[in-house]
Order: sequence, then structure tokens, then C-alpha cells
Amino acid sequence: MDKLRIQGGVPLEGEAHVSGAKNAALPIMCAALLSVEPLRLAKVPQLMDVRTMAKLLRQMGVEVSPLAEGRLALRAARITDPTAGYDLVKTMRASVLVLGPLLARCGRARVSLPGGCAIGQRPVDQHVKGLQAMGATVTIEHGYMNAAAERLRGARIVMDMVTVTGTENLMMAAALAEGTTLIENAAREPEVLDLARCLVAMGARIEGAGSNVIRIEGVRSLRGAEHMIMPDRIETGTYLAAAAATGGRIRLLGAAPKTLDATLEKLREAGARIRVQDSTIELEAAGRPSAVSVRTAPYPGFATDMQAQFMALAAIAEGTAVITETIFENRFMHALELQRLGADIAIQGNSAVVRGVERLQGAAVMATDLRASAGLVIAGLLADGETIVDRIYHLDRGYEALEKKLSGLGARVARVS
Ligand code: UD1
Repeated sequence: MDKLRIQGGVPLEGEAHVSGAKNAALPIMCAALLSVEPLRLAKVPQLMDVRTMAKLLRQMGVEVSPLAEGRLALRAARITDPTAGYDLVKTMRASVLVLGPLLARCGRARVSLPGGCAIGQRPVDQHVKGLQAMGATVTIEHGYMNAAAERLRGARIVMDMVTVTGTENLMMAAALAEGTTLIENAAREPEVLDLARCLVAMGARIEGAGSNVIRIEGVRSLRGAEHMIMPDRIETGTYLAAAAATGGRIRLLGAAPKTLDATLEKLREAGARIRVQDSTIELEAAGRPSAVSVRTAPYPGFATDMQAQFMALAAIAEGTAVITETIFENRFMHALELQRLGADIAIQGNSAVVRGVERLQGAAVMATDLRASAGLVIAGLLADGETIVDRIYHLDRGYEALEKKLSGLGARVARVS
């Protein structure tokens, strides 16, 4: 199993290009299921999760052709088997995003329940509730959701909580339903908007994506389209947090600064100087960061996917930060690993009280999930001496060319088997 070896203590300096967003690419790949015509995508990040999604779609009969330079063509001329099996779904929860499109296109779908995952329960009841409101019957048998509907009907759906993939699943299903669907208390994440843009390019009638009420007028069929995946705001935020924590100075190109308001505001509060111009973000840290407290919330609040990285920053900040996680239970596993590097963290329910220390010391740590791993990498970059991050397959799921980008910014990192 690959590990990442980091020699810490070097401030990040230089330039890097932001990749396409994983969390936009995954639902948009599933949108290909809605049309017999090809969907051509650009800026698709080369990530394990994208490869897993391609494999899942191929199993259903979708032709997935990787083209040069992050381009991908998907053609679902015929869907041979509308099933998503346990083997792939268990490795990637986002696989559940095939449920809505398969049901809308084929009138039936069989999708394995995702099961528990390292960061909490993450049920799919809202996805199911919405499809039922649109006239689907959904039964659970032998660990699989079996959904069926002659043709889905538009409905008014009020989500119990804000769910990103739930909103995306229902939006895709509603695109081919008969009549109008209203999704209320919809997720406002920029990735939902990016998916809506792609669906509109395919001929869907969608209004309000990016707000908390989305209105979808169903159409009979969708056509092929071309779409460029939006920049990854979490990757962007991760490199910015790493630069702020190490006292560095970096420039990120091809970013989407408007999707990063909460993160940029917190980094400024930590003392970093940030300049934004079009799609370029420059950050210059002014010595040791000040402690900043964060509370995760649905967009436009502070992203739960940035929480671990800010805990690493807080670990060496001046002062005490309180980090509160409101989206997922059990998303503090990185705290225990950070303690192994000398961080002073006390967990109280869904809050972590982090008292900044002057220095961390390198040690062997273990990654438990994607963003926790990113937090550990930042801590390794800060720490004196060598840090070995084990189980970096988590990082390969979501960070394109991580070592290459970090090395380009002057970090001393290497992948070891
Ligand atoms: C997406 C992101 C993930 C991010 C998360 C929150 C993708 C592929 N993944 O995950 O990176 O951390 O949003 O921003 O886009 N919930 C239910 N019932 C449901 C659905 C969700 O109770 O049917 C709960 C979850 O347990 C969680 C909360 O709602 O507590 C938010 O989860 P959700 O937004 O659905 O996360 P994902 O879409 O899985």
C-alpha cells in the first residue's frame, strides 16, 4: 500500500493549476445515462473516484472513452443492465448518483445500499423519499434498492435536510419526468449548479439551481452536449490552507474564487493576505497564523470538506480555535492522528477545541478518509522532520497529481510503496 513521505518545515511557494472538481465530475458523468447521445466532458480530473464511476457506468453498457488532456466522452446508447453492484458502491458512496438517472431513463434501477462509511451513517432516505414522491416504488431487498416507475411524474419535494447528492439525484430524475418538479430546501452547492448547467446544455429545463428551490420542467428526452467541469473548490482551499499554515506564498491558477467565500474569509481572519483576480488566487501568509474557529454548514457556509485542513492549521496557530462539525457525525478521526504529531486537541461532542502549539513533530500517521488525509498532509508539511502518511489511496480518490503539485510548490514529498 502506498504511503506519502513528507519532510516538513518548508513553506509552500510557487504556482499550481487547479483541477476540475471531483464532486461535479461524478454527478455529471451520471447525467450521461439520461441520453442516447454522447456527452463530452472537459477538465475531468484523473482520480480514483472518476475511474470507479467510469467502471460502474461501463458495467451498465455505457461507452466511456477517455480522450487526451482530461477529456472524456460518455455514450449511453443502450443501457444493458441498470444495476449498481455492492462491489463498487461500497468503495464510493457517490455511486448512488446513478439511481435517479437510471430510473428516469429505464423505468427501473437496482442500486446497492452504500452501507456505513468512515465519516458516519450517511443514509439515502431523502433520495428514496423524493423518487417515491415522483411515483416510483422502491423496495429494499438483500441490501439493494429496487426502484421502478413507468414514467416518473413531477412532484413538489421538500427535503428534510440539505443533501448534495440527494438534490442532484432528484434533479436528474426530474429532468425526464412528466410535468414539473419543485425541489425545496435544495442544496445550493456550486457543484449542483454545474450539474444543472450540463443538464440544460442537454436540453433540460431547470431554473433556480444554486438557490434553495429548484424548478424542473420534465422533457421527453435529452440530447448530447459538451460541458467543462468547474474548478475544484476543495482542492483550491486545501492548497491555500497548506500555504497559510506553512507561512508560504502561492498562486493558484484556474480557480473559481466566487465558490470559496467562506474559506477565503477564514484564511484572511487567520492573517493571510489574499488577492483575487479573475480565476487566479494569490495567498501570502504573514508568519504564524492566528487561530480561527469554524463551524461547518451547507453552502455558502464553511464546507465540511475543509474542516480537517483547518484543524491542521489551528494546530500550530496562535491561540485557541473551536472547530464545530454539524454535517457529519464522527468526522474527527484526523484529530487523534494530529495528536500523534503533538497537536493539543480536545474533542467535546461535535466540537474540537484546538490549542495552537508552536511546532508539530513528524511521525507516522494513518489516513482515514479523503479530507482527513488532506489535513494530515498539511500537518506533515508543517511538522519538524519526517511524517509518513499511510493509506494514501484515500488521497488518490480526490486529489489529482498531489505529489506533483506539492513538489512544484517546493514541498519535499515522495510516494513510497
Ligand atoms: C456530498 C459530497 C461530500 C460532502 C458532502 C457535504 C459529493 C460526491 N460528495 O456528499 O464531499 O462532504 O456533500 O457537503 O458531492 N443525509 C441523510 N439522508 C439522505 C442524504 C443525506 O440523512 O438521504 C444526511 C447525511 O447523513 C449528512 C447530511 O445529510 O449528515 C449531508 O449529506 P449529503 O449532502 O447528502 O452528503 P453527500 O451528498 O453524500
